Amino acid sequence: MSKIFVDACLRKPTPYTPVWMMRQAGRYLPEYMAVRKQAGNFLNLCHNPALAAEVTIQPLDIVGVDAAILFSDILVVPNEMGMKLEFLAGEGPVFEKPVKTEADVDALLGGEEAANKLTYVYDTIKLLKEQLDARGDEKALIGFTGAPWTLATYMIEGQGTKTYNICKKMMYSNPTLLHKILRKVTEVVKLYMEKQIQSGVDVVQIFDSWAAAIEPSKYDEFSWSYMVEIAEYLKEKYPHIPVIMFPKGISAFIERGLVYGNFDVFGVDWGTPMAMAKEKLGNKYVLQGNMEPCRLYDKEATTKCVQGIQSIMQGEGHIFNLGHGILPDVPVENAIHFVKECQRVSKK
Ligand code: CP3
Repeated sequence: MSKIFVDACLRKPTPYTPVWMMRQAGRYLPEYMAVRKQAGNFLNLCHNPALAAEVTIQPLDIVGVDAAILFSDILVVPNEMGMKLEFLAGEGPVFEKPVKTEADVDALLGGEEAANKLTYVYDTIKLLKEQLDARGDEKALIGFTGAPWTLATYMIEGQGTKTYNICKKMMYSNPTLLHKILRKVTEVVKLYMEKQIQSGVDVVQIFDSWAAAIEPSKYDEFSWSYMVEIAEYLKEKYPHIPVIMFPKGISAFIERGLVYGNFDVFGVDWGTPMAMAKEKLGNKYVLQGNMEPCRLYDKEATTKCVQGIQSIMQGEGHIFNLGHGILPDVPVENAIHFVKECQRVSKK
């Protein structure tokens, strides 16, 4: 038996359109909160393969999604490059010492040295592969990374930002330094994703959550070119492993910078009309998405949207997902409703 999610990524026929949700393992699940408590905090949970595997599997059993996404965080990469990281309650991630100068970049670990420090991620994947194989239900495992640009925003700003003013100041006044950071991160990410594949993930996704912070004429140079380089490195060595690209918020120039690159699935954010994405990219890439995550607060609003997406995509070259991550206060039963509706309306 083949995995429905992997088949859909490769545009092979499937009995229905598979569905998963970005951030599906997380705070909206009481079972997740219990395991996080047991771990002590979020980073400890990422560092503990047995517990990270447990929370990865939770949404398969509780919500019924068709794929598991490795439980970790995009920021473990700069963390293992040597940047001290903390997740503060109510504030999110904070790096103690943001990257400001060339010397700061030179002081970071790069390449194999950094990628080899992420053993807890590879151990989690190996454990998950054993557990998923033993279940025999053919659910795929998705590995992931942040895009170099999205990672660099945290490394340079030191935390989440509304204005991106520190990294944009660097973009316009010292682009060489920004490229030096992006280059170093890209080299680590290539090896990191390769090691995730060697450890057993079936599919990989590259999250460019903060793509929209870059003006359209600069997007290729500072983000998309690095993402494509990573995808092409992986596709050349592991052609059977689907690659999903998720640049969030670029609908205004979706066709310009984005209709090239060797990858399989394009993640459509909730601000992009699915019909437009289909028209512009649907012949080239399988499309993943794109319900506005806040529709999950209402079952009727959810059903309407799922039906609307289905009527556009018609089960061809499509994977159901949200157009960004699920929020912590969504009722679990509404998430279950979303998943069931996607599977119901697309059943062949
Ligand atoms: O999707 C999944 O279920 C897998 C796990 C996953 C997490 N983070 C767990 C997490 C994945 C794929 C991520 C990716 C991630 N992390 C992104 C890209 C995806 C996106 O949402 O755009 C980004 C930008 C981050 C950085 C990050 N991590 C932030 C900004 C925060 C704090 C904000 C928040 O939502 O709490 C985190 C923390 C984080 N990562 C949590 C989880 C479950 C919450 C931690 C907790 O338990 O308190």
